[in-house]
Amino acid sequence: MTAGTAGAPRRGARGAARKRSTLAAAAAAAFVAVAASGGALVLAGPAAAATTLRAEAEADGRYFGVAVGQGDLGNGTATNVAGTQFDMVTPENEMKWDTIEPSNGSYNFGPGDAIVNFATSHNERVRGHNLVWHSQLPGWVTSLPLSQVKAAMEAHITTEVSHYKGKIYAWDVVNEPFNDDGSFRQDVFYNAFGGGAAYIADALRTAHAADPNAKLYINDYNIEGSGAKSDAMYNLAQTLLQQGAPLNGIGFESHFIVGQVPSSLASNMQRFTALGLDVAVTELDDRMQTPASSANLQQQATDDANIVKVCLANAHCPGVTQWNISDADSWVPGTFSGWGAATMFDGNYQPKAAYNAVLAALAGGSVPPPSTPPPTTSSPPTSPPPTSPSATASTPASGTCQVSDAINAWNNGLTANITVTNNSGTAINGWSLAFTLPSGQSLVSAWNATITPASGAVTATNLGYNASIPAGGTVSFGFQVSHTGNTSAPASFTLNGTACTSG
Ligand code: XIL
Repeated sequence: MTAGTAGAPRRGARGAARKRSTLAAAAAAAFVAVAASGGALVLAGPAAAATTLRAEAEADGRYFGVAVGQGDLGNGTATNVAGTQFDMVTPENEMKWDTIEPSNGSYNFGPGDAIVNFATSHNERVRGHNLVWHSQLPGWVTSLPLSQVKAAMEAHITTEVSHYKGKIYAWDVVNEPFNDDGSFRQDVFYNAFGGGAAYIADALRTAHAADPNAKLYINDYNIEGSGAKSDAMYNLAQTLLQQGAPLNGIGFESHFIVGQVPSSLASNMQRFTALGLDVAVTELDDRMQTPASSANLQQQATDDANIVKVCLANAHCPGVTQWNISDADSWVPGTFSGWGAATMFDGNYQPKAAYNAVLAALAGGSVPPPSTPPPTTSSPPTSPPPTSPSATASTPASGTCQVSDAINAWNNGLTANITVTNNSGTAINGWSLAFTLPSGQSLVSAWNATITPASGAVTATNLGYNASIPAGGTVSFGFQVSHTGNTSAPASFTLNGTACTSG
């Protein structure tokens, strides 16, 4: 695979059970080529490029992201790595409050736009970072009378999210709301709303109103393993979901020290995703004292590969983002004196042992995320069911679709994950699944499909990437509703006008 084709997503996720599939074997062979060359080939030019983080992540149905700052854009070596190895970009500072709205009501989108343009021109998506944070907050906000902070926060969110509407995969709506002991930071937003989760719920609702398709996250550090701060985030997430707030995910920043990745990372991630949330690794770096020892660089390779494996093992971990492109532009040495070497690329933008270990982890298989259509090769190797004479490419015959659901309910909300199986014997290209939401249930958010209207008789329609359901294949999507006590499952499924069996 050349650098030029690396951005094209491979169809389907690598399932753990298919570890030795042709696809994975090819990727593994490509990795051997990279490893044998010491990784230098990856940066040596298109003819020699073997594979990339983004290509391997996409084959797993994931992204691999990177934080890019405006200063990086003028550095050709940096942009070459950022533009070929990654498929998601987080602006390092350019969407923070002090850059976007340095004085009340006066907005400066130039630096953020430059990062978005860089991402778009390299076929990369963007994580918006961030809307509400106690840090990098201009003095005019903290000087406002508390009675004016809510309006200022809502105006800031609405203006920024509207400006970038349709261009942002996910927003870190609230950044770092907790102290390390799990108490809320008593910043100006917390105080203006009278404490508790109120400002966070309001920020989420305001962002959702401005761009209903962006995923909305709360992001923090020292919540990656179990502990008081992680418990506080878990309780906050539960509270917000119970209130019907439009929360889609939690960001585990993951600023680690070599050898100190929490052993509870996987189980902690799992308890959050069991709430119906995504968990992304949003700011990965793994620092060591400098100059780096070879033992620490090896430990870093182990750490980074393990973190990636934890993400791949959780269907609701959509991807990993490294904070900064290389050790040359990392924020670590400037923030933690005497520490550095925290990324997968060295001070000359060359791949380190950690890079090769992460590529190997990505090539080693994954639990397919629900957002990824199953590969056609996963169909049982038996002859397909007979094709009904009335079946067409887009309209299966009666009884040829089957729908199952998994409901996760709490006092006044629930999530539903729906799987549709196409038993028609013919591929479906473009699908609409009509069904009924039980009374009292009202849609809060949906994933992997568009659902309208918000209650009653609704229709879920495919997105671009999951429009086709192979013969014998499945597609999955989900949604969150608020409810008033009725937690019944949706019913009366009709796929492209044909009734489905359910159960
Ligand atoms: C850091 C940037 O990398 C620095 O350039 C800046 O001086 C301070 O902020 N958690 C976050 C990021 O959410 O926004 C921070 O980024 C790193 C810690």
